[in-house]
Amino acid sequence: MTDSHGMTASRAQFTSTFGFLMAATGSAVGLGNVWGFPTQAANNGGGAFLVAYLVLAFLLAYPALMAELMIGRHSKTNIVTALSSLDERPLLRVIGASVGYGGLLTASLILSFYAIVAGWMLSKFLLPIAELLGFAELALWFGEDSVTRNLVTCFVFSALTMGIVARGVSNGIERWSARLMPILTFILIVLIAYVLTLPGALMGLQVYLSPDFSQLTDSGLLLDAMGQAFFSLSLGVGTMLVYGSYLHAGLAHKSNVNALPRLGAAVALLDCGIAFIAGLLIIPAMYVAQAQGIAIFGEGGELLAGPGVVLQVLPALFATMGTAGIWVSIAFFMLMTIAALTSSISMLEVPVSVVTEKSRLSRRVSAVAIGAVIFAVSVLLIFNMGTLFEGVIILSTRYSEPLLGLALCLFAGWVLFRHRALTKMCAEQPEMKKSLFWRIWPTYVRIICPILIVLMLVQSFR
Ligand code: TRP
Repeated sequence: MTDSHGMTASRAQFTSTFGFLMAATGSAVGLGNVWGFPTQAANNGGGAFLVAYLVLAFLLAYPALMAELMIGRHSKTNIVTALSSLDERPLLRVIGASVGYGGLLTASLILSFYAIVAGWMLSKFLLPIAELLGFAELALWFGEDSVTRNLVTCFVFSALTMGIVARGVSNGIERWSARLMPILTFILIVLIAYVLTLPGALMGLQVYLSPDFSQLTDSGLLLDAMGQAFFSLSLGVGTMLVYGSYLHAGLAHKSNVNALPRLGAAVALLDCGIAFIAGLLIIPAMYVAQAQGIAIFGEGGELLAGPGVVLQVLPALFATMGTAGIWVSIAFFMLMTIAALTSSISMLEVPVSVVTEKSRLSRRVSAVAIGAVIFAVSVLLIFNMGTLFEGVIILSTRYSEPLLGLALCLFAGWVLFRHRALTKMCAEQPEMKKSLFWRIWPTYVRIICPILIVLMLVQSFR
């Protein structure tokens, strides 16, 4: 059977809209939500950052997300093939392929450091379990920041990622996202309910939720909020593009022209929603820690952000809680590990989809082979923590992601919608002319998004 694009209909796809939603929010909701967002918010004017973040997420990140979903759904293939076949002209094909391979490399680089951080989460999750089971020495080993431990936990996490991706789109990615995301949400809510009963929590809530609008004038804040929104929605590297390409035929053929824009909005809303409620956990927990005498401010008087929060402050807090602390600790780091896993599979899917569709390698073989190469890069980073780690994070998330996001907006706006899709769809579906989304979005993604992204990049070079 072939569809209108001449591709075989046997290509993998998600089994339902719900499955897509779980996979896409699973990708979006990750360490960036639970760890990055709350601490950035607390340091940048609390509620004011929240407002800036929400506005930017919808003005910039949502249109860019739609660009990726549209390209994916229309071309029904991986990022490299999609971008190199949107237009017949040789120059555009070459540019498209380069952007595609750029996305593939960036996704792999992001995974190489993400898996290390996820390995830390995994060791903090296994530590109290080892303690409970009476393996005191093992628990000690999990608690020490050693090269061997980092290698082992990063390896285990990478193997889990490869295992899920090897199983395929619906049996692996969709199934595991649909299993894990509800668990994640449940743990998050239970932990919030518990932490909010502890002394000091209300102070944290106040810091998080009361807006200090004077900080909004700081241009660094807007920049941070934009970068955070891009990273949090997994944009720029082809993750959302390839997930969009796996949307089941039912939705793809629905006559409702607003089905995809709505689905994208749901992903963006869920992502922001989880980031917001993660803030209700992390910031109050930090102030509870302070009430216990644990230092939560850095040298400049700012609230600790970065690794210190999750790797030191929170474990120190859990240690003051006695037996309850053991369970809280297990729950919290299980939450972090799950959040990381549903994101890491979406990163690995980018190169795996390219290789399986462009070569004769099976999904199983390419998932393991590519996973192994990326793990080798992680090993390199683990041995060169001091010199390479930060650099790779900055290169991939601060520069590469927004640049590729820019290219994807331009491709969606100027290539996809100029040449075929929009004209054809408009002719077929007159109700598009009435839809708010379709009246605004194409121009928006062609002009406004690129300008905003360029402004942000220029700012960050100064
Ligand atoms: N969005 C995830 C987070 O917030 C990380 C992530 C998953 C990602 N896939 C991505 C980031 C692709 C950039 C690109 O942690």
